Amino acid sequence: MGGHEKTYRDATGSLLLPRIIRLDDNLYGAAFTLMKLVPARHILLKAEESGLLGPNTEVVETTSGTFGLALAMQAALMKRRLTLVSDPVIDPALHRRLVDLGARVEICAHPADVGGFQQARLDRLDRIRAERPDTFCPEQYTNPDNPASYTVVAEHLESTLGELDCLVGPVGSGGSMCGTARALRATRPGLRAIGVDTPHSVLFGHPDGSRVLRGLGNSLMPGNLDHREFDEIHWCTAAEAFAATRLLHRSTALFQGPTSGAAYLVARWWARRHPDARVVVMLPDEGHRYQDTVYDDAWLAARGLAGAPPEQPVEVVDPTRPSDVWSRYAWGRRSLGQVVGAAAGELIA
Ligand SMILES: Cc1ncc(COP(=O)(O)O)c(C=O)c1O
Repeated sequence: MGGHEKTYRDATGSLLLPRIIRLDDNLYGAAFTLMKLVPARHILLKAEESGLLGPNTEVVETTSGTFGLALAMQAALMKRRLTLVSDPVIDPALHRRLVDLGARVEICAHPADVGGFQQARLDRLDRIRAERPDTFCPEQYTNPDNPASYTVVAEHLESTLGELDCLVGPVGSGGSMCGTARALRATRPGLRAIGVDTPHSVLFGHPDGSRVLRGLGNSLMPGNLDHREFDEIHWCTAAEAFAATRLLHRSTALFQGPTSGAAYLVARWWARRHPDARVVVMLPDEGHRYQDTVYDDAWLAARGLAGAPPEQPVEVVDPTRPSDVWSRYAWGRRSLGQVVGAAAGELIA
């Protein structure tokens, strides 16, 4: 049959959209193999189309996580040169995989005085871009094509599930939650968006501090995070997220990573409190990378991270104060300045 080849997709295209799985009466999971393929593929294809990626342009980016993997997969398919700036926290198996995909990985040995390794990586990236003449940086934290790429995910959710009442998901760059919520609200402005962060991440007002949970949270404020998209914010600790990841696995057989666990914990609680609402939770990556950590009881116990997830969050009055247990704040679609200002006013009053 002549037209056969048209029906085949390449690897990143075939993995792009999440599987939609029913997790509870009114709760659905959007389970991605690797959510970051959505922005990585969109940004690189669009840059090629617009001429930003010329025949010899090298793609350069800073990442120690899944965005780097997604870029390396996409760059391999597009036969593009790719340099990734990372840090010593990079997981060795991920490092090997990036190299196998043809990426050049540069490791920053020391953190910056302010902004830690994330700032050190950005400084190195700036130097690379100044030295090399023809580079393109996808800039996931500021490129509006990151949130815009999630329109296809919103369309997929809508066409599979119909009208949704609530979207829950982890926040790192802000791209997935802001982009998906914005696109869903084009037809359903009342949709609630609940962001999941971790204590000591600056995203929703905490002072920067050391964090065990990776993939969500941030030491720097990303331009792609529009705080006004969020109705509620929850902060989950690493131990709670890990326990919820295992609970998700045990109770639904879904084998996902720890940011999925954190989002599941919050979504399950919210969905049970709103039995008439149709809730969907973003589950950004699979569990394979975390077999020797989150899925290893001995690893968890040795670090004091074992335990059952709590049943409910504590309500916080001051969102700038990290709590050491799962906490929740009614953000109310306000800017960061509005929230922090109002919290300070309430505390003084
Ligand atoms: C595993 C995982 N979960 C969640 C996120 C957060 O997604 P976003 O950057 O779209 O806010 C990331 C971001 O890198 C991630 O790697």
